[in-house]
Amino acid sequence: MFINFWYVAERSESVTDKPVAVRMLGQDFVLFRDSAGEVHCLSNICTHRGGALAGGQMVDDCVECPYHGWQFDGDGNCTRIPSLGVNGKIPKRTRVDSYPTQERYGLVFAFLGDLPEEERPPIMECKEWGQEGWRATSLVFDWDYDYKRSVENALDPAHNEFTHSTHIDRKKDKPFQVPDLELINTDWGTGFHIEMPAPAMYEEKMADTANLHEPSIFHIRAGYHGVSSFWTYIEPTPKFIRRQHFYETPIERGKTRIFAIDMRNAMLDPDDDKRMIYMDTLVANEDGDVLLDVRPVLQPLNNIKENFVPADKHIAHYRENIREWEAMGWRIDQDEVERNEHQVAYAIPCPDRRNSKNWTLDPVPLISATTGGAEVKIASAN
Ligand code: FES
Ligand SMILES: [Fe+2]
Repeated sequence: MFINFWYVAERSESVTDKPVAVRMLGQDFVLFRDSAGEVHCLSNICTHRGGALAGGQMVDDCVECPYHGWQFDGDGNCTRIPSLGVNGKIPKRTRVDSYPTQERYGLVFAFLGDLPEEERPPIMECKEWGQEGWRATSLVFDWDYDYKRSVENALDPAHNEFTHSTHIDRKKDKPFQVPDLELINTDWGTGFHIEMPAPAMYEEKMADTANLHEPSIFHIRAGYHGVSSFWTYIEPTPKFIRRQHFYETPIERGKTRIFAIDMRNAMLDPDDDKRMIYMDTLVANEDGDVLLDVRPVLQPLNNIKENFVPADKHIAHYRENIREWEAMGWRIDQDEVERNEHQVAYAIPCPDRRNSKNWTLDPVPLISATTGGAEVKIASAN
């Protein structure tokens, strides 16, 4: 798991004036909305005796620890220690980490890391959101698989024919040969575009909308953005385009929450949402059936413990990026975290840690030098 990216903490509608507990990157956070409507995300661990702030209540835009009533504002500063009396001086060291937040696409994003604003990788954009002629459906999935395995699944043009055989024609005698993937550089990632044979659309209304009653060629575009977001554009015809955006939040190693936003330019009636949700759930479950059994659960430590063929070019590129982000010192040393978990409470370092010292909790240990797998060697197609 990596610090220094934006992660979706919750759906906007779930964050009210009551504290909400959220787990991300193997750590605990509390979210709340202040009286001005702004959402805050703090480390959940009280700097007094380790109480869980999310178990407390809101008092004057501060979250109050349920143990001894210390209060923390949206910037993480401790504003009240009842046992010190009314005029007690509050030590600065009592503050907790507070993380930048943004609300977009009906979601609350938190920047979990210490980079200054100008150096932060941006949130993956969903350009169609709120645009005329587009309609969104949103879904949240909880899976017991690792987010990187899931991102790789999305970058994998060779799995559709098998994993999603309801959607793509599977021809025994003429399998889909993945063309040489031309990777397009995007902001903090890469993408590709391929054309793929597809069966007639089995949903009658969709087939009518797209004028697709016969097998045809679909345009598929897919790519990743940062370590845990990806996009899939499916274009049966220009009349019917779906642009899916997936924001994956690692909860623990091997546990992932996926926030999916699916935009479409046809079938804009709210009643049609059910069809989209049905299809997205079906596809997610088909992927899930496979991903839950993939071993090892995490990406292997060394790439030579798997075999890469040309169709895996995009996955190989994603792994190279992972190694680069690890070399930047952004990867959490989760083995160390888990070794100490019963005696050390950690915090993901927040941006303010770069400006001042003397914090109560240790920052999560990070892997300082790249120890990643061997370079990916792709077997030739011939
Ligand atoms: S543990 Fe939070 S106030 Fe004491
Ligand atoms: Fe899939």
